[in-house]
Amino acid sequence: MVLDVSFSRLVLNTKTTLIKGESSFDLQFNDKQAEARWAHALKSVCVLTDFHEKYTILRTIGRGNFAKVYLVESRTSGKFYAAKAFSKELDAGVGENEEKRKLKLSIINEISLLRDINYHNIANLSKVYETENSIYLLLDHVQGRTLDQILARGDFTQKYSDEEIAIMFLSILEGLAYLASKGIMHRDLKPANIIIEKEGKVKIVDFGFATYIDQPEYIFPTCGSPGFLALEIFQDESQTTPPKYDDRCDVFSAGCILFHMLFGFALYPGASNVQILENNQSYNYLSQKRQKIKAEIANKDSKINKQGLSLLLELLASDPKKSIICD
Ligand SMILES: Nc1ncnc2c1ncn2[C@@H]1O[C@H](COP(=O)(O)OP(=O)(O)O)[C@@H](O)[C@H]1O
Ligand SMILES: [Mg+2]
Repeated sequence: MVLDVSFSRLVLNTKTTLIKGESSFDLQFNDKQAEARWAHALKSVCVLTDFHEKYTILRTIGRGNFAKVYLVESRTSGKFYAAKAFSKELDAGVGENEEKRKLKLSIINEISLLRDINYHNIANLSKVYETENSIYLLLDHVQGRTLDQILARGDFTQKYSDEEIAIMFLSILEGLAYLASKGIMHRDLKPANIIIEKEGKVKIVDFGFATYIDQPEYIFPTCGSPGFLALEIFQDESQTTPPKYDDRCDVFSAGCILFHMLFGFALYPGASNVQILENNQSYNYLSQKRQKIKAEIANKDSKINKQGLSLLLELLASDPKKSIICD
């Protein structure tokens, strides 16, 4: 018998039961050790049901568009985790609307990709739970602040040395290189999805929009966050199959982040998301900014690190064919 276990529910009490849709299957072994090994292996690929028995929710540590992220503590080991929770209320009500459909797709997508990822500067997924009201993604807890919070203080360039900025940024690129080696693009790389730990170590979070590059059709072909989008993502809007962009869109987003880190203000400023998006979509706006970076490189009195600026110019290519790749 072939059991497709992914997204099956695994119920563990006196016996181990695997449930998929209407069918259920009890795992029964004479050898108790073998049964425990099976249950252990299945825990990482199925959806578990005993979240509240296993963890205590301590407090909210983050909020995104649809998800709330909680700090939780394991009742057995005392270990801390981050639990990214999606309320099933969004799923309730009559009928399917586009919003609900997208949310479901995004949760399934995030789980599938995270299950394929394991790297030191990514918040890795340990287990998935579904309770009556919520779906929880149990992730490594990253203790620190998002780069967004750090940049918002406005004293980034004074507070961090060139070397510290270089280490932080190269660590982001290292994460991207890992993802590229797995054939994955993140598609929502931005300061709010990067957490800086106390020692300056970097962790990338939020794989809701991530996808495999070789998919014949991308879910959410035009996605990401205003102010961090590569031009080719907009250009792909009208003609999505086969998709025209690849992991170089993440390299561009990394460029937007480095710009903010070096200059101390955003590459695409704006009073509203609409305005930011308008600037972000404009080829001319990017060309002007590239000229500004070139002028800064030529300016002998500029305090901004020249190597950083040269790298920035490479990252912010206006044509993805000329962009560098992370490997
Ligand atoms: N593993 C984690 N450890 C600590 N904080 C996290 C973790 N994952 C997410 N967060 C925090 O929660 C916020 C929202 O999580 P995110 O995955 O980005 O949700 P969304 O997909 O809704 O944007 C992040 O910006 C970050 O502040
Ligand atoms: Mg996010």
